[in-house]
Amino acid sequence: MTNPSICGLLILGLLVFYNTLSFLFLPCLSLTTFIFGDSLVDAGNNDYLFTLSKADSPPYGVDFSPSGGKPTGRFTNGRTVSDIIGQSLGGNSFPLPFLAPNSLINATHAGINYASGSAGILVQTGTMFIGRIPLQEQVNYFEQTKAHLVGKMGEKATKSFIKNAVFSITIGSNDILNYIQPSLPFIGQDKVQPAIFQDQMVSNFTMQLKRLLKLGARKFVIVGIGPLGCIPFVRAIKLGWFEKCSNEVNELIQGYNKKLNRELRLLNKEMGNKAVFVYANSYDIFMDIISNYQHYGFEDAKDPCCGGYFPPFMCFKGTNTNTSSIMCEDRSKYVFWDAYHPTEAANLILAKKMLDGDEKATSPVNIRQLYNSQN
Ligand SMILES: *[C@@H]1O[C@H](CO)[C@@H](O)[C@H](O)[C@H]1NC(C)=O
Ligand SMILES: *[C@@H]1O[C@H](CO)[C@@H](O)[C@H](O)[C@H]1NC(C)=O
Ligand SMILES: *[C@@H]1O[C@H](CO)[C@@H](O)[C@H](O)[C@H]1NC(C)=O
Repeated sequence: MTNPSICGLLILGLLVFYNTLSFLFLPCLSLTTFIFGDSLVDAGNNDYLFTLSKADSPPYGVDFSPSGGKPTGRFTNGRTVSDIIGQSLGGNSFPLPFLAPNSLINATHAGINYASGSAGILVQTGTMFIGRIPLQEQVNYFEQTKAHLVGKMGEKATKSFIKNAVFSITIGSNDILNYIQPSLPFIGQDKVQPAIFQDQMVSNFTMQLKRLLKLGARKFVIVGIGPLGCIPFVRAIKLGWFEKCSNEVNELIQGYNKKLNRELRLLNKEMGNKAVFVYANSYDIFMDIISNYQHYGFEDAKDPCCGGYFPPFMCFKGTNTNTSSIMCEDRSKYVFWDAYHPTEAANLILAKKMLDGDEKATSPVNIRQLYNSQN
């Protein structure tokens, strides 16, 4: 665990021992993460928006101990994958949602979370939920953050601060979910071919990655899209409730992931050792959890723990209802928390594999190696 005070003590100790100032520049790793993405990693931004995509009522957050089980805007019962990874790396605290008061003041403490439920790579994704922060706007917010940091600690210190921070991006699920649903007439737009859609996603994503590179980001974690064909919502709309997964949807995702991964390998090559883009293969990790759920200690890899077994799957606690009646009995035995999102129990497995897994889980290195790397 690296924390600023231990770092400071170490420097002081060396100073006394060697009586020289040069050791003041001893590298001190402290975890800063800038988190971008959708509801899989939203830590409360949507609570500040007018939107239909919110997790601000119980039982969301029921297992999130820092809030005492109260909702925080996280779309799961406990911690997200980003929360767990941050904690495992010794983060001081969870990065605040950008839209929360004081988020900029606290940016140097742990980083900032820009993620927003129902947001996508493409600007139009999530229109039907009204408020959300599309990826492009999340990067705009980071731009504002950087300007604030420069004002606070100067150009040079900001540059090195950003260079050592981890930029984690979990996005794309909502673009796929929008694409597979029947078009709404008033939003119009004919659908492009699947291959063209995948290409548009990848090139729009790449454009934002290049913006972040320009702003000084050097350590990236790009989380691929998981097997959405297996989530309760998709199985319901694809009328495959009794099927395990929708192959059509999963093939669309795998095609996209492959193209994204290819693009990241290109970026890694282009940047040499100046930047690292880690691709996290959440598709294979999650598919393994679903296929071998009993091996992982789950009893159900099909139904949502909260929100019932049939559409519209609303997971909320009515004013007078007994909490236990709207949730499954044992949340640690379910892979899915609601019709869209994994439980904390599933997030723990995902996080562990992304953090310390082999090249099947993340490439070219795992997140712990990325975090420990000096560039
Ligand atoms: C904000 O940062 C300060 C240290 O600068 C820390 O003590 C405090 O807990 C942080 N607040 C939150 C909500 O993380
Ligand atoms: C981004 O996606 C849109 C479709 O939503 C597409 O028209 C546009 O060409 C894409 N932009 C880039 C740079 O790929
Ligand atoms: C809630 O459910 C539990 C277990 O089913 C039960 O013991 C308790 O009496 C219920 N509480 C209310 C207020 O209905």
